[in-house]
Amino acid sequence: MTPDPRFPADFLWGAATSAYQVEGSPLADGAGPSIWQRFSHTPGLVKNGDTGDVACDHYRRYEEDVRLMRELGLTAYRFSVSWSRVLPEGKGRINERGLDFYRRLVDALLANGIQPVVTLYHWDLPAALDDRGGWLNPDIAGWFAEYAAVLVRALDDRVEMWSTLNEPWVVADGGYLHGVLAPGHRSLFEAPLASHNLLRAHAAGVEAYRALGRHRIGLVVNIEPKDPASDRPEDLAATARADAYLNRQYLDPVFLGRYPEEMREIFGDAWPDFPQADLDHIRQPIDFLGVNYYTRMVTCDDPRALPVRAGRVRQTRHAHTETGWEVHPPGLTKTLVWIKERYGDIPLYVTENGAAFYDPPSAEADELSDPLRVSYLRTHLVAAREAMRQGVDLRGYFAWSLLDNFEWSHGYSKRFGIVHVDFETQRRTPKASARFYSEVIRTRGAVLP
Ligand code: BGC
Repeated sequence: MTPDPRFPADFLWGAATSAYQVEGSPLADGAGPSIWQRFSHTPGLVKNGDTGDVACDHYRRYEEDVRLMRELGLTAYRFSVSWSRVLPEGKGRINERGLDFYRRLVDALLANGIQPVVTLYHWDLPAALDDRGGWLNPDIAGWFAEYAAVLVRALDDRVEMWSTLNEPWVVADGGYLHGVLAPGHRSLFEAPLASHNLLRAHAAGVEAYRALGRHRIGLVVNIEPKDPASDRPEDLAATARADAYLNRQYLDPVFLGRYPEEMREIFGDAWPDFPQADLDHIRQPIDFLGVNYYTRMVTCDDPRALPVRAGRVRQTRHAHTETGWEVHPPGLTKTLVWIKERYGDIPLYVTENGAAFYDPPSAEADELSDPLRVSYLRTHLVAAREAMRQGVDLRGYFAWSLLDNFEWSHGYSKRFGIVHVDFETQRRTPKASARFYSEVIRTRGAVLP
Protein backbone atom coordinates (compact mmCIF):
# COMPACT_ATOMS: atom_id res chain seq x y z
CA MET A 1 0.00 0.00 0.00
CA THR A 2 1.44 3.42 -0.87
CA PRO A 3 1.44 5.86 2.07
CA ASP A 4 -1.08 8.74 2.02
CA PRO A 5 0.82 11.59 0.30
CA ARG A 6 -1.27 14.21 2.04
CA PHE A 7 -0.27 16.39 4.97
CA PRO A 8 -2.30 16.06 8.18
CA ALA A 9 -5.66 17.85 8.26
CA ASP A 10 -4.51 20.21 11.03
CA PHE A 11 -1.18 21.12 9.35
CA LEU A 12 -0.79 24.92 9.28
CA TRP A 13 -0.35 26.47 5.85
CA GLY A 14 0.94 29.97 6.13
CA ALA A 15 2.97 32.81 4.75
CA ALA A 16 5.23 35.12 6.74
CA THR A 17 6.20 38.80 6.79
CA SER A 18 7.78 41.15 9.32
CA ALA A 19 6.73 44.58 10.53
CA TYR A 20 9.47 46.81 9.13
CA GLN A 21 9.54 44.93 5.83
CA VAL A 22 5.85 45.39 4.96
CA GLU A 23 4.01 47.85 7.16
CA GLY A 24 5.22 51.29 6.10
CA SER A 25 3.97 54.31 8.12
CA PRO A 26 6.76 53.69 10.67
CA LEU A 27 6.01 56.82 12.68
CA ALA A 28 2.22 56.89 12.34
CA ASP A 29 -0.22 57.19 15.24
CA GLY A 30 2.35 57.96 17.90
CA ALA A 31 4.92 55.26 17.06
CA GLY A 32 8.55 55.85 17.97
CA PRO A 33 11.47 55.29 15.58
CA SER A 34 13.25 51.95 15.39
CA ILE A 35 16.87 51.16 14.58
CA TRP A 36 15.76 50.26 11.05
CA GLN A 37 14.25 53.71 10.63
CA ARG A 38 17.64 55.16 11.50
CA PHE A 39 19.69 52.65 9.53
CA SER A 40 17.66 53.02 6.34
CA HIS A 41 17.74 56.81 6.64
CA THR A 42 21.53 56.83 6.89
CA PRO A 43 22.88 57.48 3.38
CA GLY A 44 24.78 54.61 1.83
CA LEU A 45 23.63 51.78 4.07
CA VAL A 46 20.69 50.42 2.03
CA LYS A 47 20.74 49.76 -1.69
CA ASN A 48 19.31 52.63 -3.77
CA GLY A 49 18.65 54.59 -0.56
CA ASP A 50 15.47 52.55 -0.05
CA THR A 51 13.63 52.80 3.27
CA GLY A 52 10.63 51.15 4.92
CA ASP A 53 8.70 54.45 4.95
CA VAL A 54 6.04 53.02 2.64
CA ALA A 55 7.08 49.40 2.03
CA CYS A 56 3.90 47.45 1.14
CA ASP A 57 1.70 49.94 2.99
CA HIS A 58 0.37 46.95 4.90
CA TYR A 59 -0.34 49.20 7.90
CA ARG A 60 -3.14 50.77 5.87
CA ARG A 61 -3.93 47.94 3.43
CA TYR A 62 -3.99 45.02 5.84
CA GLU A 63 -7.67 44.29 5.13
CA GLU A 64 -6.96 43.83 1.42
CA ASP A 65 -3.97 41.64 2.32
CA VAL A 66 -6.03 39.47 4.65
CA ARG A 67 -8.64 39.02 1.89
CA LEU A 68 -5.85 37.92 -0.42
CA MET A 69 -4.63 35.40 2.16
CA ARG A 70 -8.13 34.00 2.36
CA GLU A 71 -8.41 33.75 -1.42
CA LEU A 72 -5.19 31.78 -1.46
CA GLY A 73 -6.54 29.47 1.24
CA LEU A 74 -3.87 30.25 3.87
CA THR A 75 -4.77 28.94 7.31
CA ALA A 76 -2.12 30.94 9.19
CA TYR A 77 -0.28 34.27 8.90
CA ARG A 78 3.03 34.84 10.65
CA PHE A 79 3.77 38.54 11.23
CA SER A 80 5.86 40.51 13.70
CA VAL A 81 4.98 43.40 15.97
CA SER A 82 6.88 46.65 15.82
CA TRP A 83 8.07 47.19 19.39
CA SER A 84 8.32 50.96 18.98
CA ARG A 85 4.73 51.27 17.71
CA VAL A 86 3.54 49.78 20.97
CA LEU A 87 6.16 51.27 23.31
CA PRO A 88 7.54 54.37 21.53
CA GLU A 89 10.38 54.71 24.08
CA GLY A 90 10.86 50.95 24.23
CA LYS A 91 9.52 50.76 27.77
CA GLY A 92 7.12 52.61 30.01
CA ARG A 93 4.38 54.47 28.18
CA ILE A 94 2.07 52.30 26.05
CA ASN A 95 0.87 53.72 22.74
CA GLU A 96 -2.65 52.33 22.50
CA ARG A 97 -3.05 53.49 18.90
CA GLY A 98 -0.10 51.36 17.87
CA LEU A 99 -1.47 48.39 19.74
CA ASP A 100 -4.85 48.94 18.07
CA PHE A 101 -3.31 48.21 14.68
CA TYR A 102 -2.40 44.71 15.83
CA ARG A 103 -5.81 44.25 17.46
CA ARG A 104 -7.45 45.12 14.13
CA LEU A 105 -5.12 42.86 12.18
CA VAL A 106 -5.73 39.90 14.50
CA ASP A 107 -9.50 40.44 14.37
CA ALA A 108 -9.44 40.59 10.55
CA LEU A 109 -7.42 37.36 10.39
CA LEU A 110 -9.72 35.52 12.76
CA ALA A 111 -12.82 36.78 10.91
CA ASN A 112 -11.33 35.18 7.79
CA GLY A 113 -10.48 31.90 9.46
CA ILE A 114 -6.71 32.57 9.48
CA GLN A 115 -4.66 31.81 12.58
CA PRO A 116 -2.42 34.71 13.69
CA VAL A 117 1.15 33.68 14.55
CA VAL A 118 2.95 36.53 16.28
CA THR A 119 6.69 37.17 16.41
CA LEU A 120 7.60 39.68 19.10
CA TYR A 121 10.97 40.73 17.70
CA HIS A 122 11.96 40.75 14.06
CA TRP A 123 14.97 43.11 14.19
CA ASP A 124 13.35 46.55 14.60
CA LEU A 125 14.54 47.56 18.08
CA PRO A 126 13.15 50.87 19.40
CA ALA A 127 15.79 53.54 18.72
CA ALA A 128 15.35 54.78 22.30
CA LEU A 129 16.65 51.44 23.57
CA ASP A 130 19.54 51.49 21.14
CA ASP A 131 20.49 54.81 22.72
CA ARG A 132 20.85 52.89 25.98
CA GLY A 133 23.10 50.28 24.38
CA GLY A 134 20.47 48.10 22.69
CA TRP A 135 21.34 44.41 22.74
CA LEU A 136 24.61 45.18 24.55
CA ASN A 137 22.84 46.40 27.67
CA PRO A 138 22.03 43.50 30.02
CA ASP A 139 18.85 45.34 31.07
CA ILE A 140 17.37 44.46 27.72
CA ALA A 141 16.11 41.14 29.07
CA GLY A 142 13.82 43.07 31.43
CA TRP A 143 12.78 45.54 28.71
CA PHE A 144 11.87 42.66 26.44
CA ALA A 145 9.85 40.92 29.16
CA GLU A 146 7.94 44.16 29.79
CA TYR A 147 7.16 44.51 26.09
CA ALA A 148 6.15 40.85 25.81
CA ALA A 149 3.77 41.26 28.75
CA VAL A 150 2.05 44.25 27.09
CA LEU A 151 1.42 42.21 23.95
CA VAL A 152 0.32 39.08 25.77
CA ARG A 153 -2.17 41.05 27.88
CA ALA A 154 -3.58 42.67 24.75
CA LEU A 155 -3.75 39.69 22.41
CA ASP A 156 -3.39 36.32 24.09
CA ASP A 157 -7.17 35.91 24.25
CA ARG A 158 -7.05 35.69 20.44
CA VAL A 159 -3.49 34.69 19.55
CA GLU A 160 -2.53 31.09 20.27
CA MET A 161 0.98 30.96 18.82
CA TRP A 162 3.80 33.31 19.79
CA SER A 163 7.50 33.46 19.26
CA THR A 164 10.02 35.59 21.07
CA LEU A 165 12.81 36.34 18.58
CA ASN A 166 13.30 35.87 14.88
CA GLU A 167 16.80 34.64 14.02
CA PRO A 168 18.99 35.84 16.90
CA TRP A 169 22.07 34.81 14.88
CA VAL A 170 21.27 37.37 12.21
CA VAL A 171 20.79 40.10 14.82
CA ALA A 172 24.21 39.43 16.35
CA ASP A 173 26.12 38.62 13.16
CA GLY A 174 24.59 41.26 10.89
CA GLY A 175 23.94 43.90 13.51
CA TYR A 176 27.00 43.67 15.78
CA LEU A 177 29.76 41.70 14.02
CA HIS A 178 29.63 42.61 10.33
CA GLY A 179 27.52 45.74 10.48
CA VAL A 180 25.44 45.07 7.37
CA LEU A 181 22.18 45.27 9.32
CA ALA A 182 20.96 47.69 12.00
CA PRO A 183 22.43 48.96 14.25
CA GLY A 184 25.46 48.50 11.99
CA HIS A 185 28.24 47.80 14.51
CA ARG A 186 31.40 45.91 13.59
CA SER A 187 32.88 44.42 16.69
CA LEU A 188 34.23 40.99 17.50
CA PHE A 189 33.79 41.80 21.18
CA GLU A 190 30.20 43.00 20.99
CA ALA A 191 28.74 40.08 19.02
CA PRO A 192 28.99 37.49 21.85
CA LEU A 193 27.44 39.96 24.31
CA ALA A 194 24.58 40.69 21.94
CA SER A 195 24.00 36.95 21.42
CA HIS A 196 23.96 36.26 25.12
CA ASN A 197 21.56 39.12 25.82
CA LEU A 198 19.29 37.94 23.00
CA LEU A 199 19.10 34.55 24.69
CA ARG A 200 18.53 36.12 28.11
CA ALA A 201 15.75 38.24 26.62
CA HIS A 202 14.22 35.19 24.96
CA ALA A 203 14.14 33.43 28.35
CA ALA A 204 12.70 36.48 30.10
CA GLY A 205 10.03 36.70 27.40
CA VAL A 206 9.10 33.03 27.84
CA GLU A 207 8.90 33.58 31.60
CA ALA A 208 6.63 36.60 31.15
CA TYR A 209 4.47 34.52 28.85
CA ARG A 210 4.14 31.69 31.37
CA ALA A 211 2.90 34.19 33.94
CA LEU A 212 0.25 35.74 31.70
CA GLY A 213 -0.41 33.67 28.57
CA ARG A 214 -2.48 30.56 28.10
CA HIS A 215 -1.22 29.26 24.77
CA ARG A 216 2.11 28.41 23.17
CA ILE A 217 5.40 30.26 22.83
CA GLY A 218 8.57 29.30 20.99
CA LEU A 219 11.70 30.66 19.30
CA VAL A 220 12.51 31.06 15.61
CA VAL A 221 16.04 30.32 14.37
CA ASN A 222 17.65 30.18 10.95
CA ILE A 223 19.49 26.96 10.27
CA GLU A 224 21.92 26.34 7.43
CA PRO A 225 23.40 22.83 7.34
CA LYS A 226 27.16 22.81 6.84
CA ASP A 227 28.56 20.13 4.57
CA PRO A 228 32.36 19.73 4.43
CA ALA A 229 33.94 20.47 1.06
CA SER A 230 36.34 17.53 1.52
CA ASP A 231 37.55 15.02 4.10
CA ARG A 232 40.65 17.10 4.87
CA PRO A 233 40.90 17.62 8.64
CA GLU A 234 41.09 21.40 8.09
CA ASP A 235 37.79 21.40 6.19
CA LEU A 236 36.13 19.16 8.75
CA ALA A 237 37.24 21.46 11.58
CA ALA A 238 36.03 24.53 9.67
CA THR A 239 32.68 22.81 9.12
CA ALA A 240 32.34 22.13 12.84
CA ARG A 241 33.12 25.78 13.66
CA ALA A 242 30.65 27.08 11.09
CA ASP A 243 27.99 24.70 12.38
CA ALA A 244 28.59 25.77 15.99
CA TYR A 245 28.51 29.45 15.11
CA LEU A 246 25.29 29.43 13.11
CA ASN A 247 23.35 26.32 14.06
CA ARG A 248 24.26 25.46 17.64
CA GLN A 249 25.10 28.85 19.19
CA TYR A 250 21.46 29.48 20.12
CA LEU A 251 19.93 25.99 20.21
CA ASP A 252 22.52 24.41 22.52
CA PRO A 253 21.88 26.99 25.28
CA VAL A 254 18.09 26.78 24.85
CA PHE A 255 17.89 22.98 24.83
CA LEU A 256 21.09 21.84 26.53
CA GLY A 257 22.00 24.76 28.82
CA ARG A 258 25.51 25.30 27.41
CA TYR A 259 27.34 26.96 24.53
CA PRO A 260 29.15 24.86 21.93
CA GLU A 261 32.82 24.31 22.74
CA GLU A 262 33.87 25.82 19.44
CA MET A 263 32.69 29.31 20.47
CA ARG A 264 35.92 30.07 22.30
CA GLU A 265 37.99 28.75 19.42
CA ILE A 266 36.07 31.10 17.13
CA PHE A 267 36.03 34.24 19.28
CA GLY A 268 39.19 33.79 21.33
CA ASP A 269 39.48 36.50 24.00
CA ALA A 270 36.26 38.07 22.81
CA TRP A 271 34.27 35.13 24.17
CA PRO A 272 33.52 35.79 27.87
CA ASP A 273 32.80 33.20 30.54
CA PHE A 274 29.05 33.53 30.76
CA PRO A 275 27.55 32.68 34.17
CA GLN A 276 26.03 29.21 34.40
CA ALA A 277 23.03 30.76 36.19
CA ASP A 278 22.21 32.64 32.96
CA LEU A 279 22.41 29.42 30.98
CA ASP A 280 20.17 27.62 33.45
CA HIS A 281 17.62 30.39 32.95
CA ILE A 282 17.98 30.31 29.17
CA ARG A 283 17.25 26.60 29.21
CA GLN A 284 13.51 27.01 29.69
CA PRO A 285 11.03 24.69 28.10
CA ILE A 286 9.50 26.13 24.95
CA ASP A 287 6.40 24.80 23.22
CA PHE A 288 7.74 24.64 19.68
CA LEU A 289 10.69 25.64 17.54
CA GLY A 290 10.37 27.63 14.32
CA VAL A 291 12.98 26.90 11.66
CA ASN A 292 13.80 29.28 8.83
CA TYR A 293 15.50 27.37 6.05
CA TYR A 294 16.86 28.85 2.82
CA THR A 295 20.10 27.12 1.84
CA ARG A 296 23.08 25.06 2.96
CA MET A 297 26.80 25.82 2.97
CA VAL A 298 29.51 23.61 1.52
CA THR A 299 32.33 24.57 3.85
CA CYS A 300 36.11 24.79 3.55
CA ASP A 301 38.85 26.07 5.80
CA ASP A 302 39.51 29.75 5.03
CA PRO A 303 41.85 31.59 7.41
CA ARG A 304 40.79 34.95 5.92
CA ALA A 305 37.08 34.52 6.67
CA LEU A 306 37.11 35.81 10.24
CA PRO A 307 36.16 35.02 12.90
CA VAL A 308 34.95 31.53 11.97
CA ARG A 309 37.71 30.85 9.44
CA ALA A 310 35.27 28.97 7.22
CA GLY A 311 34.47 29.69 3.59
CA ARG A 312 31.63 28.80 1.26
CA VAL A 313 32.47 26.69 -1.79
CA ARG A 314 30.11 27.66 -4.58
CA GLN A 315 28.41 24.66 -6.17
CA THR A 316 28.62 25.84 -9.75
CA ARG A 317 26.53 23.00 -11.14
CA HIS A 318 23.57 23.73 -8.88
CA ALA A 319 20.87 26.38 -9.18
CA HIS A 320 21.23 29.54 -7.10
CA THR A 321 18.70 32.19 -6.12
CA GLU A 322 19.09 35.87 -6.84
CA THR A 323 20.64 36.35 -3.41
CA GLY A 324 23.31 33.84 -4.46
CA TRP A 325 22.00 31.03 -2.25
CA GLU A 326 22.31 27.46 -3.50
CA VAL A 327 18.95 25.75 -3.97
CA HIS A 328 19.29 22.59 -1.91
CA PRO A 329 15.99 21.03 -0.74
CA PRO A 330 17.59 17.93 0.90
CA GLY A 331 19.11 20.36 3.41
CA LEU A 332 15.63 21.05 4.76
CA THR A 333 14.96 17.37 5.46
CA LYS A 334 18.41 17.05 6.98
CA THR A 335 17.89 20.11 9.21
CA LEU A 336 14.55 18.96 10.58
CA VAL A 337 15.80 15.43 11.26
CA TRP A 338 18.98 16.81 12.87
CA ILE A 339 16.97 18.97 15.29
CA LYS A 340 14.89 15.99 16.37
CA GLU A 341 17.97 13.84 16.85
CA ARG A 342 20.03 16.42 18.72
CA TYR A 343 17.42 18.27 20.77
CA GLY A 344 14.50 15.86 21.06
CA ASP A 345 11.04 15.52 19.67
CA ILE A 346 9.81 19.09 19.95
CA PRO A 347 6.98 20.27 17.65
CA LEU A 348 8.55 22.04 14.67
CA TYR A 349 7.31 24.57 12.13
CA VAL A 350 9.07 25.74 9.01
CA THR A 351 8.49 29.41 9.82
CA GLU A 352 10.24 30.70 6.66
CA ASN A 353 11.23 29.16 3.36
CA GLY A 354 11.37 30.85 0.00
CA ALA A 355 13.53 32.47 -2.62
CA ALA A 356 14.28 35.72 -4.39
CA PHE A 357 14.26 35.35 -8.14
CA TYR A 358 14.00 37.85 -10.93
CA ASP A 359 10.34 37.70 -11.98
CA PRO A 360 10.04 38.11 -15.75
CA PRO A 361 7.37 40.57 -16.89
CA SER A 362 4.20 38.79 -17.91
CA ALA A 363 1.88 39.39 -20.85
CA GLU A 364 -1.07 38.57 -18.64
CA ALA A 365 -2.06 41.49 -16.44
CA ASP A 366 -3.37 39.32 -13.64
CA GLU A 367 -0.77 36.61 -13.32
CA LEU A 368 2.97 36.61 -13.13
CA SER A 369 4.99 33.61 -14.11
CA ASP A 370 7.75 32.65 -11.65
CA PRO A 371 8.68 29.07 -12.52
CA LEU A 372 11.87 29.07 -10.45
CA ARG A 373 9.99 30.02 -7.30
CA VAL A 374 7.29 27.41 -8.04
CA SER A 375 10.00 24.80 -8.34
CA TYR A 376 11.70 26.03 -5.15
CA LEU A 377 8.48 25.74 -3.17
CA ARG A 378 7.56 22.39 -4.67
CA THR A 379 10.89 20.74 -3.94
CA HIS A 380 11.09 22.15 -0.41
CA LEU A 381 7.54 21.07 0.43
CA VAL A 382 8.46 17.58 -0.73
CA ALA A 383 11.57 17.76 1.47
CA ALA A 384 9.43 18.83 4.45
CA ARG A 385 7.07 15.92 3.86
CA GLU A 386 10.06 13.59 3.70
CA ALA A 387 11.17 14.79 7.16
CA MET A 388 7.69 13.95 8.46
CA ARG A 389 7.97 10.52 6.89
CA GLN A 390 11.20 10.12 8.86
CA GLY A 391 9.36 10.83 12.09
CA VAL A 392 9.74 14.60 12.56
CA ASP A 393 6.78 16.27 14.30
CA LEU A 394 6.39 19.03 11.72
CA ARG A 395 3.16 20.95 12.20
CA GLY A 396 3.20 23.76 9.68
CA TYR A 397 4.94 25.55 6.83
CA PHE A 398 5.17 29.29 6.12
CA ALA A 399 6.30 30.61 2.78
CA TRP A 400 8.61 33.62 2.88
CA SER A 401 7.12 35.86 1.91
CA LEU A 402 3.50 36.69 1.34
CA LEU A 403 4.49 39.92 -0.43
CA ASP A 404 7.52 41.30 -2.22
CA ASN A 405 8.92 43.61 0.45
CA PHE A 406 11.81 45.60 1.92
CA GLU A 407 14.68 43.09 1.89
CA TRP A 408 16.79 44.86 4.53
CA SER A 409 20.06 46.23 3.11
CA HIS A 410 19.04 45.06 -0.39
CA GLY A 411 16.09 47.45 -0.25
CA TYR A 412 13.41 46.55 -2.79
CA SER A 413 15.89 44.98 -5.22
CA LYS A 414 15.17 41.39 -4.15
CA ARG A 415 11.67 39.98 -4.50
CA PHE A 416 10.75 37.07 -2.23
CA GLY A 417 6.95 37.38 -2.49
CA ILE A 418 4.51 34.80 -3.78
CA VAL A 419 2.44 37.92 -4.43
CA HIS A 420 3.99 40.60 -6.60
CA VAL A 421 3.83 44.17 -5.31
CA ASP A 422 4.06 47.08 -7.70
CA PHE A 423 5.75 49.61 -5.41
CA GLU A 424 4.52 52.55 -7.55
CA THR A 425 0.83 51.69 -7.29
CA GLN A 426 0.79 49.17 -4.39
CA ARG A 427 -1.09 46.80 -6.68
CA ARG A 428 -0.86 43.16 -5.53
CA THR A 429 -0.72 40.39 -8.17
CA PRO A 430 -0.49 36.76 -7.12
CA LYS A 431 2.39 35.07 -8.92
CA ALA A 432 2.14 31.53 -10.29
CA SER A 433 3.86 30.42 -7.07
CA ALA A 434 0.91 31.76 -5.05
CA ARG A 435 -1.51 29.81 -7.27
CA PHE A 436 0.64 26.72 -6.96
CA TYR A 437 0.85 27.04 -3.16
CA SER A 438 -2.89 27.54 -3.03
CA GLU A 439 -3.37 24.24 -4.90
CA VAL A 440 -1.02 22.50 -2.49
CA ILE A 441 -3.09 23.81 0.41
CA ARG A 442 -6.41 22.89 -1.21
CA THR A 443 -5.27 19.31 -1.83
CA ARG A 444 -3.22 19.05 1.39
CA GLY A 445 -0.19 18.30 -0.71
CA ALA A 446 -1.73 15.64 -2.94
CA VAL A 447 -0.54 17.62 -6.01
CA LEU A 448 3.09 17.30 -4.92
CA PRO A 449 5.20 14.64 -6.63
C1 BGC B 1 14.53 36.90 7.58
C2 BGC B 1 13.66 37.74 6.68
C3 BGC B 1 14.35 37.96 5.34
C4 BGC B 1 14.58 36.59 4.71
C5 BGC B 1 15.22 36.64 3.34
C6 BGC B 1 15.27 35.78 6.89
O1 BGC B 1 16.59 35.78 7.33
O2 BGC B 1 13.82 36.46 8.70
O3 BGC B 1 13.36 38.93 7.31
O4 BGC B 1 13.64 38.79 4.50
O5 BGC B 1 15.41 35.82 5.53
O6 BGC B 1 16.50 37.18 3.39
